[in-house]
Amino acid sequence: MEYILEMRDISKSFPGVKALDHVQLKVKPGEVHALMGENGAGKSTLMKILMGIYKKDKGGEILFNGQPYEVSNPKEAMDVGVAMIHQELNPIFDMTVYENIFAGREISKYGLVDKKAEIEAAAKLIQECGLHVSPTDTLRGLTVAQCQLIEIIKAISVDAKVIIMDEPTAAISDREVEILFDHIRRLKEQGVAIIYISHRMNEIFSICDRVTVYRDGQYIGSGETKDLDENQLIKMMVGREIVDVFPKTPADIGEVVFEARNISRSDRKVKDVSISVRRGEILGIGGLVGAGRSELVESIFGMHRMSGGEIYVKGERVQVRSPQDIIKRGVALVTEDRKITGLNLVASINDNIAVVAIRKLLSSGLYSKKKARQAAQEYIEKLKIKTPSVDQIVGDLSGGNQQKVVIAKWLLNDPDIIIMDEPTRGIDVGAKRDIYILIGSLVQQGKSVIMISSEIPELMGVCDRIAVMAEGRLSGEVRREEFSQERIMALASAIQV
Ligand SMILES: Nc1ncnc2c1ncn2[C@@H]1O[C@H](COP(=O)(O)OP(=O)(O)OP(=O)(O)O)[C@@H](O)[C@H]1O
Ligand SMILES: [Mg+2]
Repeated sequence: MEYILEMRDISKSFPGVKALDHVQLKVKPGEVHALMGENGAGKSTLMKILMGIYKKDKGGEILFNGQPYEVSNPKEAMDVGVAMIHQELNPIFDMTVYENIFAGREISKYGLVDKKAEIEAAAKLIQECGLHVSPTDTLRGLTVAQCQLIEIIKAISVDAKVIIMDEPTAAISDREVEILFDHIRRLKEQGVAIIYISHRMNEIFSICDRVTVYRDGQYIGSGETKDLDENQLIKMMVGREIVDVFPKTPADIGEVVFEARNISRSDRKVKDVSISVRRGEILGIGGLVGAGRSELVESIFGMHRMSGGEIYVKGERVQVRSPQDIIKRGVALVTEDRKITGLNLVASINDNIAVVAIRKLLSSGLYSKKKARQAAQEYIEKLKIKTPSVDQIVGDLSGGNQQKVVIAKWLLNDPDIIIMDEPTRGIDVGAKRDIYILIGSLVQQGKSVIMISSEIPELMGVCDRIAVMAEGRLSGEVRREEFSQERIMALASAIQV
């Protein structure tokens, strides 16, 4: 049998959206098969049908191992041999690492959960994965990257024949990506098929054997990655060519408008870091996952207490006790994890966009629903958010489109200094370019941007200056004239004591 999995003629409609329109997917055992397409193309929906999370519309069929495949929930899918690492992680923070790995398939002894055996087995898996956590840690204390690796461990350990990875590297950086790829190669050798969803082109070419492309819910085509190049793939995805991926527009760089001096945290995740940004400037913050970049901006933003350090906005010292103190001064933070801190998933786009900028949406002192809707509509167009209307529940948008709502929500408040933590995470090539253009227009208006990114080409393409962190400290700064991949990598991996 040539294919382990065949999905034929699959359709799925949601109110106002035809998410999938008679699409197909054929996966061979032992291959890494990429699913590609713009935000909202239908990739996650197709995979949720495979996991039994969504029910496909009438018609079409799924064959697994040549047999009809019908499951109605993820547990049934896992029993048959299909596991999925989700794009939108849903960690239960009070659970420990080992409980998470064995959730739903506890190891038992005399009818009781054998904690000791679970902890031992988890420790082994964690060690193999090169992860530095303890099986008894709760998820609360872990980073997004660590939570993601735990999901991966979980999928590996259920002995699946097909593992779906929906943007597994969106929140992890190069070192962890290599660890993940090692796992993928090992799984391949064992004949496991991986369905790999990612917007990172370089990953597609380095790890995937074949690729299937969808556009607007339609099947476009499949092929071997060795027969394709990046431009062809982009053309299949967006229907046109994209030439200049990093359009950099010149802006006038002026005086220093924001300064964080000697910031430290008592948990030692940030040690004596100073950064500043000028009017009209884009400052990048590079580094590996766990280097303390998100922790730094969280402290600046009053989400976590600093044990030392000072913040100056436009020359004035600001005492930051809560995010409100710094939002008032015209600073915004587009947060790293849209699921945890960025969005209210059960509310509409409209209501999400309105929360930060409520004061801008008043009409004779009262909150104007009409103004909010207009503003939401404006940003849907500006950022090309794919949705049937402003009333759509944010949790029902595709991952990349949720990220765009986070950006819209903060921009509406018209901040002068915008801190963005991985702003293009999970965003497709075309839309990334739109965001770079938007960032360029912000600095041209005299605003300043601080952008954290784990993608070095993106930092080099967009920023005027890059500050690099390693192990909680600032390990160096590079100006645009001196940018080089090697230099930034070296600073990022600088081990300090
Ligand atoms: N539960 C739902 N209710 C309503 N619409 C939905 C639901 N789930 C998905 N959609 C819609 O179906 C379409 C396809 O979404 P899907 O999440 O599959 O896209 P995707 O290809 O995974 O995109 P991304 O790259 O942004 O993750 C989108 O227009 C999305 O808004
Ligand atoms: Mg998706």
